[in-house]
Amino acid sequence: MGKMWAGRTDGSTDKIADDFNSSIHFDSRMYRQDIKGSMAHAAMLGAQGIISLDDSQKLIDGLDGILTDLDEGKLSIDFDAEDIHMFVEQVLTERLGDVGKKLHTARSRNDQVALDMRMYMRDELDEIKANVLKLIEAVLEKAEAYKDYVMPGYTHLQRAQPITFGHHLMAYVMMLMRDVDRFADARKRINISPIGSCALAGTTYNTDRRFEADKLGFDSVTLNSIDGVSDRDFCVEALSNIAMLMMHLSRFSEEIVLWSSWEFKFVELSDSFTTGSSIMPQKKNPDMAELVRGKTGRVYGDLMALLTVLKGLPLAYNKDMQEDKESVFDAIDTVKMCLEVFVGMVSSMKANKENMLKAAQNGFINATDLADYLVKKGLPFRSAYKISGQIVAYCIQEKKVLETLTIDEYKQYSELFDDDVYKDIDLKACVDKRISEGGTSVSSVEKQIVFAKDYLSKED
Ligand code: ARG
Repeated sequence: MGKMWAGRTDGSTDKIADDFNSSIHFDSRMYRQDIKGSMAHAAMLGAQGIISLDDSQKLIDGLDGILTDLDEGKLSIDFDAEDIHMFVEQVLTERLGDVGKKLHTARSRNDQVALDMRMYMRDELDEIKANVLKLIEAVLEKAEAYKDYVMPGYTHLQRAQPITFGHHLMAYVMMLMRDVDRFADARKRINISPIGSCALAGTTYNTDRRFEADKLGFDSVTLNSIDGVSDRDFCVEALSNIAMLMMHLSRFSEEIVLWSSWEFKFVELSDSFTTGSSIMPQKKNPDMAELVRGKTGRVYGDLMALLTVLKGLPLAYNKDMQEDKESVFDAIDTVKMCLEVFVGMVSSMKANKENMLKAAQNGFINATDLADYLVKKGLPFRSAYKISGQIVAYCIQEKKVLETLTIDEYKQYSELFDDDVYKDIDLKACVDKRISEGGTSVSSVEKQIVFAKDYLSKED
C-alpha cells in the first residue's frame, strides 16, 4: 500500500520503520467505530456545503459498504497498512476514486483516533458495566441463600466475631456497586466528542462539530482543540476503574482460594470451574480464582504503562500516544474474561454450613459478646473487656470454650454473671443481636439485599 501522506517525503520508508510505525495489528479492532465516525464526518461535510451532497452520499454509501464487507468477511484487513484510519480511506479511494479523497477534509488522524478511542471505550465500558451487574446478581443470589450461615468473621486473618456468609458476600456486592457507579461516572467524561479539533488548532472550514457529535451519540464536544487531541485522561480513568474492579475480584479470589482449601472447607467450587493436578490425584485446584488474582497484576501493569507513556508528553499529539491502545485493549479484554469466569464460578459455588459453624465455635469469637453482657449488667466496657480476656485465657489453659464453662467458674471472675450468660454468647444470638445498620444480623443483611436488588432494578 503506497503512503497516503507521501508528498513532503517520497514515502519510501524502510520496511523496519514501517513495521515499527504500524498500529493496524491492534487498532483494526476499532474498524466499526472508525467507519461510523467517518460516515458522520461525511454527512457533516455535505450538510455544511464543504463538499457536495452528492459526494457526501457517495462517501457514506462507500463507507457503509466497507463496513458490511468487513463484518461479513468479504473484505479483509490489509496488515501492510499503517493503521485502521489509513486502511479505510485507502479502500474507500480504491472503490470511489477521487471522491474518496475528499473524506479527510477538515479533520486529521489526531482527532480521528481520539474519536475512535472514545467511541470504542464507550461501547466496551457499557459491556463491562453490564457484566459487573450480572456478577452482582450472582453474588446477591448466594448472599440470599446463605444469609443465616454463621461463620467466623476475621481481622488480621484471626477469628474475630461471628458473622454470616451472606453478610460477608454482601460486602462484595457493595464494592461491585461502587464499580458500576464509577463506570457510569467515567462515561460522562468519555462521551464528549473531540472530532473537529483537527490536527490541533481547529479548522478554517465551516464545520459543525455538534452535528457530528449528535449523529454519533455524544453528549457534547470538547471545548479546546489542543486538549481534544491530547487528552487520554478518559483512558487512564477507565483503566483505573478497571484496575479497582480487578482489585475487588482479586480479594474475592483470594478468599475463595482460602475457603476452598482443606484447612477451611467453607466452600466447594464446582468441577466445571476447577482443575485437577497432573500428578496428585486428590487435587481440585481453584485455578480460575488464582488466575483472576494473577491477572490483576497484569491490569495494574496496563494502567502504569499508560500513565508512564503520557507523563512526559508535550502538547498536542505525539506518536507515543499510539502506545495507549495495547494497554487499554489488554485491560478491557482481561477484565471481561475475568468477569465472565467469575459469574460462572460464583454461581456454581456451594457453601458448607457445618464447617463454617465448626470454625466459628473455636476461637472465642463470642468474647466481645461476653464483655457486652457484663456491660449490660452495669460494668464499664474497659473493665468488662479485661475480665473477658482473663476468662478466655482460663479457657485456653483448661482446654474449654466459653459455652462449656460452668456458672461457678464464671462467678470466680465476676458476681455479675448469671445463667442468662449462655443465651448471650450463643453464636446465633451473637449474630442476631447485631441489628445496627449494615450489621451482620439476618434482618440487617436482608435490608442490604433489598437495597442491592433495588439498585439492580434501577440499572436495568
Ligand atoms: N495510529 C495513530 C495512533 O494510534 C493514529 C494517529 C496518527 N497521527 C499522526 N499524526 N501520525 O495514534
